[in-house]
Amino acid sequence: MGATIMDRKCLWAGVVVLLLLQGGSAYKLVCYFTNWSQDRQEAGKFTPENLDPFLCSHLIYSFADISNNKIIIKDKSNAVLYQTINSIKTENPKLKILLSIGGNEFGSKRFHPMVDSSISRLDFINSVIPFLRSHNFDGLDISWIYPDIKDSTHFTELIQEFAEAFQKDFVKSRKEKLLLTAGVSAGRQIIDKSYQIEKLAKALDFINLLSFDFHGSWEKPLFTGHNSPLRKGQLDRGTSSYYNVEYAVGYWINKGMPAEKVVMGIPMYGRTFTLASAETAMVSSASGPGAAGPITKSPGFLAYYEICQFLQGAKVTRMQDQQVPYAVKGNQWVGYDDVESVKTKVQFLKNLNLGGAMIWSIDMDDFTGKSCGQGHYPLVQAVKRSLGSP
Ligand SMILES: *[C@@H]1O[C@H](CO)[C@@H](O)[C@H](O)[C@H]1NC(C)=O
Repeated sequence: MGATIMDRKCLWAGVVVLLLLQGGSAYKLVCYFTNWSQDRQEAGKFTPENLDPFLCSHLIYSFADISNNKIIIKDKSNAVLYQTINSIKTENPKLKILLSIGGNEFGSKRFHPMVDSSISRLDFINSVIPFLRSHNFDGLDISWIYPDIKDSTHFTELIQEFAEAFQKDFVKSRKEKLLLTAGVSAGRQIIDKSYQIEKLAKALDFINLLSFDFHGSWEKPLFTGHNSPLRKGQLDRGTSSYYNVEYAVGYWINKGMPAEKVVMGIPMYGRTFTLASAETAMVSSASGPGAAGPITKSPGFLAYYEICQFLQGAKVTRMQDQQVPYAVKGNQWVGYDDVESVKTKVQFLKNLNLGGAMIWSIDMDDFTGKSCGQGHYPLVQAVKRSLGSP
């Protein structure tokens, strides 16, 4: 008798879970993947074939290039890329795949001269639409890192002209409307200089907030600090008080970006330091970047799959104020995100009714599951689960 009631309860719980799954999550899970991760050595080598059609709601290929005011992709294996896009969309017709233009290397300079006149911008826009349509992309992301005060008007114009052109294409093509998004800074000083937020809010479908790189080995004088603290730390003073996810999200919303258009970035990597003394706490003196990782090979930086290896024999401290962990081993210090901190971040974004979570980038999670022993894509999966549960 007791057993029967239990069975019923389980059955009903199962039905409820199924209904939730079918309804899907209202939140977006926007995942960037980078074209250079295919060049990493084995274990870190990530090719389009590694893409999971059901992991994210939106995938963003980074980055395309501009040549003679036209958009181009200079990928090693373009054929594989285009073929994969088509095949994973057949598997999951709801998945949106966007193409991103910009990035760190590209900087501001490569947007010139394209962005400088309405004629060259139109030339560019007219190259983008047929390019996206013919390769079956669902939209364009502009990750201009970062327009300065002189560029901010041209940046706005570019976005507004794209929005208009996508609207016209939508009417003419009778296909689904192309999405328009932008990868934008979370640094208050840059936000003030770079973005005409109310105008951008009207033209963009959503923003991908780059809410990370708040601290790193480029700072002078150099102290340990977290890449992506959720909240202000007790020791944060002056401009340091701006360098956290909560402040950046609030700032964008206060300046006129609707909360539901803010997709909050969660990094799949940490920033590292070499300690200058025996002092190991947050805001300790550092002498430089931490040692490069065996696979990403960049000083001051570790992918999550490298952090899992680093954690063996390291001492982990979870900051109660900033709600993120850091780890120390010898004179090496890393501030990073783990399953627990990404869950806390997702709860935060749900409380504010943001548009969803953005992942930079899926190729730096433990996508093979071999490094962390937490299954495939442990961080992205944790984000996905937290987004989906009430
Ligand atoms: C990635 O894209 C950039 C910009 O288009 C290009 O210069 C680079 O060669 C690409 N890398 C690979 C491995 O395809």
